[in-house]
Amino acid sequence: LWTMGSFLERAVAEVQEQVGSGRALCALSGGVDSSVAAVLVHRAVGDRLTCVFVNHGLLRKGEAEQVQKTFKEKFKMNLIYVDARRRFLSRLAGVTDPEMKRKIIGEEFIRVFEDQAAALGQVDFLVQGTLYPDVVESGTATAAVIKSHHNVGCLPGDMRFGLVEPLRWLFKDEVRELGEEMGLPEEVIWRQPFPGPGLAVRILGEVTEHKLAILQEADAIVEEEIRKAGLYRQIWQSFAVLPDIKSVGVMGDERTYSYTVAVRAVHSRDAMTADWVRLPYEVLEAISSRIVSEIKEVNRVVYDITSKPPATIEWE
Ligand code: XMP
Repeated sequence: LWTMGSFLERAVAEVQEQVGSGRALCALSGGVDSSVAAVLVHRAVGDRLTCVFVNHGLLRKGEAEQVQKTFKEKFKMNLIYVDARRRFLSRLAGVTDPEMKRKIIGEEFIRVFEDQAAALGQVDFLVQGTLYPDVVESGTATAAVIKSHHNVGCLPGDMRFGLVEPLRWLFKDEVRELGEEMGLPEEVIWRQPFPGPGLAVRILGEVTEHKLAILQEADAIVEEEIRKAGLYRQIWQSFAVLPDIKSVGVMGDERTYSYTVAVRAVHSRDAMTADWVRLPYEVLEAISSRIVSEIKEVNRVVYDITSKPPATIEWE
């Protein structure tokens, strides 16, 4: 009989065998996948695992602080915080092509880890929270490449680490179950998925500090209102997108010419297909009126009513 307990036992044994007496470095993002992967590998190899949290500047509001608090205080893990915001933003300057943005972010990530590895001395393995759907969509298993996923598709050819991917046979709901099995707190387990390239794939066109600040505020409002309505757990992902659109509006007697924010919410089991969420009008209204009143650079809010396929969940 297949149970999560027996999967865990086997996965821990496999990691022990793969890593041997080597040292591992984990890319901790604070999301469900990397958190579960990190805790699993920590079980297997103990303090031969070092976790690195990279703030690439493309995170949600307050996320960097929250991740540090959770993993340093709660899990007492060996966590290194790297502020790489400048580095990523300068490499993204002027870049508008979606695949190019993903490629740059993926490559830069690995470079940051290589720097950390060099500073730490011997590091042999990189731990990643890659799930089965990521493997499939990046073309490693069967399907053609749809988007080069941050976890598997963007690794540069000169990468010097072996990869440890203990979740590569699991779907999201199974990862959550595994997390529960290992005693992770529910705020980590029930965090909605967030893409590796972060807000960069939700800002269409060039990523700038200014646009990031607008999107972080809008996204925080979406999350707050969804939570307030008691819908956060039932929804696969709900978030704000900043298309490269400005439109005309009116504020008092003044004409405005400002950004549009798109709101996206989808139901899904495994991210391979998704259905847009029929959010209650009151929730949409609360989101919309708060965004336009609290963020002066935004004068219009639209709701994305497409499913996957033909749309993808993220806009890039
Ligand atoms: P799409 O937009 O392809 O997204 O429908 C499917 C799921 O994958 C997430 N996503 C990513 N996750 N690295 C990740 O770890 C990535 O590069 C990446 N791109 C998209 C997305 O949020 C959705 O849950």
